[in-house]
Amino acid sequence: MATTGKMTQSGLTNLVLVGFMGAGKSTIARICSRRLGMTLCDTDHLLEARFQMSITELFTELGEREFRRQECNLIQELSTGSRQVIATGGGVVLNPVNVAALRATGLVVLLHVDTDTIVERVRHQTHRPLLAGVTDLRAHISDMLEKREPIYREAAHCTVELRGLTPTESAASVINLFKTISGEGK
Ligand code: S3P
Repeated sequence: MATTGKMTQSGLTNLVLVGFMGAGKSTIARICSRRLGMTLCDTDHLLEARFQMSITELFTELGEREFRRQECNLIQELSTGSRQVIATGGGVVLNPVNVAALRATGLVVLLHVDTDTIVERVRHQTHRPLLAGVTDLRAHISDMLEKREPIYREAAHCTVELRGLTPTESAASVINLFKTISGEGK
């Protein structure tokens, strides 16, 4: 659904950020929502608030299967709303039902960062159950990325390459794309 000339994709009133853990989805979504005057919805944070548990506790108490079911319910709810910047958890795109719902009302943008940057960012963080206790973090992340990369590409309308960009610059690129393709804010 690329844009040519003045053609825009109307009806895409949400801006959806997808990508691997540590890509910067939450940070960039926060900047975009502020700049665009749109509501910020961060799926991990919303699930934590809904269940009064951290993501790690949700995985431990409910199990990953139930976490994914709750995540899917939330995505369905958010997809009916408008003028939201939605930061998704890194595994949201693994369920085609989520992808279809998000794409129905939102421009889905993949935030892409290289493996080394991801490893460095998540190395000292402890809030990601899928990376907890992993001995060879780089090999584990490379393996996950190899499996997920095609799914992210397929789910997204477009990709922003974040290498070398600050969060503010990254958000500016995303906003540009959103305004051009959705016609929102023009
Ligand atoms: C996950 C990513 C996490 C969180 C959960 C599962 C994944 O979100 O939803 O730990 O499967 O990639 P972030 O991408 O915000 O870390």
